[in-house]
Amino acid sequence: MKECVKMSYFVSVENLPLADLNQLLERASYFKNNGRSPKFNQPIYAANLFFENSTRTHCSFEMAERKLGLTVIPFDPAASSVKKGESLYDTLLSLNSIGVQLAVIRHPENNYYQSLIDLNANQQLDLGIINAGDGSGQHPSQSLLDMLTIKEQFGHFAGLKIAIIGDLTNSRVARSNMQLLQRLGAQIYFSGPKYWYDAAEFGQYGNYLPLDQLVDQMDVVMLLRVQHERHQSETDFDASTYHQMYGLTKERYQQMKDNAIIMHPGPINRGVELDSDLVEAPKSRFAEQMRNGVFIRMAMLEAVINGRKLGGI
Ligand code: CP
Repeated sequence: MKECVKMSYFVSVENLPLADLNQLLERASYFKNNGRSPKFNQPIYAANLFFENSTRTHCSFEMAERKLGLTVIPFDPAASSVKKGESLYDTLLSLNSIGVQLAVIRHPENNYYQSLIDLNANQQLDLGIINAGDGSGQHPSQSLLDMLTIKEQFGHFAGLKIAIIGDLTNSRVARSNMQLLQRLGAQIYFSGPKYWYDAAEFGQYGNYLPLDQLVDQMDVVMLLRVQHERHQSETDFDASTYHQMYGLTKERYQQMKDNAIIMHPGPINRGVELDSDLVEAPKSRFAEQMRNGVFIRMAMLEAVINGRKLGGI
């Protein structure tokens, strides 16, 4: 089997070596171009634990697991003993004892994975944890699929001008992407409502500018979902006003560079972050991002399988 990245966990992109990132992108491209999945000599058991709603991440991790030939043990928090008060640790201890070796977890609490990794280190758990999104912290698989989509379009990252626009404060996608893109040499800009731009945090990655001063210069216009469910109160939110002030309108789309692209992690609030007609416009990579999600997740899972020497390889 081709040499690939080895990791015990995949929980953050913050310290992901760029050499590993490049290998993961290459491996995902290989899978996308009909490259063969590795053949494992022993079964590998995975469970997907989603404590927040998800369509893309959940289904594409499951697709990636099936493409790799893993056995997926169904887990639905709403029908599990979590409803009886069982903790995340006790849930994972149970699954691990039953034979689950990989746990893909989405959880509303930032950094939920750190204590679990510490327990793994103490050999209380023997479980490869893959973070499918923690609160407003990290979204490694979304970030890597975004990098794959950008690389497919431009072939490189250095010098690209990339605007990340919208609900920055609540966005794990923004955090993971700005951390990777800065290290990759891209020039990052932020836009959207000023109250979602915390200069102390985001200012070290890029400057804030109004969208109309950015849109005609960007290579990538990355729109973020307005995460209503994370807002304490938003009595004065008006979708139409947001769209006119901060959204990608058809007029702004016309100003984009010829080879510039639109990205959005989904789910999209149509008519808010971007005009509904632009979701499948020629510059939009929304569907391609979701397609790429399967292949990048195959590469991430494989990295943890290799790191933990699972499957008898
Ligand atoms: N991009 C993303 O995380 O989408 P889901 O919430 O549907 O998984």
